Amino acid sequence: MQDFIYEVGTKILFGKNQIDKLPEEILKYGSRVLMVYGGGSIKRTGIYDTVTKLLKDRGIYFKELAGVDPNPRVETAVEGVKIIKEENLDFILAVGGGSTIDCSKLIAASVFLDTDPWKVVIREATPKKALPIGTILTLSATGSEMDQASVITNMTTKQKIGWRSPLVLPKFSFLNPEFTYTVPKKHTAAGVADIMSHTMENYFSVDDSAYLQDRFSEGLLKTCIKYGEIAYNEPDNYEARANLMWANSWAINGLLNTGKTQEWSVHPMEHELSAHNDLTHGWGLAILTPAWLRHCLNDETVDKICDFGRNVFGLADEEDKRALANKAIDKLREFFTSIGIPENLREVGFKEEDLPEIAKACIKNHKGALKGFVTLEEEDVLEIYKASL
Ligand code: NZQ
Ligand code: ZN
Repeated sequence: MQDFIYEVGTKILFGKNQIDKLPEEILKYGSRVLMVYGGGSIKRTGIYDTVTKLLKDRGIYFKELAGVDPNPRVETAVEGVKIIKEENLDFILAVGGGSTIDCSKLIAASVFLDTDPWKVVIREATPKKALPIGTILTLSATGSEMDQASVITNMTTKQKIGWRSPLVLPKFSFLNPEFTYTVPKKHTAAGVADIMSHTMENYFSVDDSAYLQDRFSEGLLKTCIKYGEIAYNEPDNYEARANLMWANSWAINGLLNTGKTQEWSVHPMEHELSAHNDLTHGWGLAILTPAWLRHCLNDETVDKICDFGRNVFGLADEEDKRALANKAIDKLREFFTSIGIPENLREVGFKEEDLPEIAKACIKNHKGALKGFVTLEEEDVLEIYKASL
């Protein structure tokens, strides 16, 4: 196991009866709040009323930034920075899914820079300071409520790029599984696929020295498979929503990749697809992952894929290891299909002629290769896209 430092300073307030503590958590950091949210789900579900009442009752001044899109746009962050400066705000409260939280992170990091927020995303500006952020999570998927990452889309340049900074790690996050009861089936399934993908990006490596972390990963994957199906079919099953919500935070908060070096592969390939046609992130990951694993299957990787088959899906050993590995990949595909995720890129609007340009852009944005489970160059990425079509 390699050396590592593990530190996650986000306070988690988990469960049904925590939200009343919101004002006291905010007041530790500020008193003039920008409340950021998406396209209106929080108004339909009543979360908006609950939160604004708590702020008003405690006399906390707030302004709103509504309308963060799924695949959050850089323009929304520009608007947020403007409101903060005009109103002299000192705290950001993100109420929503990963898109709302990611947009809030970019706002927090850009307020003290006199430059276009996009420059932060493309690493042309480095934040030295950020406004504190708190989150109220409404969708289990990205883990953004407990990590340092943010993924932003620029529709003009057709780029979707992730950036990170310890400065934007949320100070606190409220995780009430009941707030996710209303997540539509499509986003419930996409969220489960996203959690699983974060786990698998860390798990699938040929460096097996982090035995403990890999067993954590298998536990998270089993949790997603068991409760993903239940939440998909019974949206208000508390146990399912609670287990998914907690798995969501642990899949990407740094635990699973401690002690191993692991560059991600499927996320970069998916982000490029999302940038091209606004594809739902988790769907893209679920479509690509089986084809990626099959592409990676070789003498060096076969044992790890067999571990996955045995320990996650309970498959029995076979004489031919490759047959077992292929069965494991089939099982993964079957699971994604069982929760209503389309099987191929064609179903979500891609055509074969789109793919070479997307593969080229993916590799260009990642310094010539994706050095993950196996190293992928442009032709490998294109092959995986084509196999997913
Ligand atoms: O916008 P509203 O009206 O709120 O509706 C949202 C949106 O339409 C809806 N929704 C959220 N909570 C709901 C709800 N509908 C009903 N009831 C609720 N309780 O769900 C839709 C999707 O929301 P979004 O925030 O876009 O989803 P998600 O959490 O999956 O975030 C996706 C974004 O996060 C990025 C993705 O690339 C994508 O841009 N990622 C961020 C990461 C990070 N920060 O660490 C890592 C991930 O790998 C990922 O790349
Ligand atoms: Zn993801």
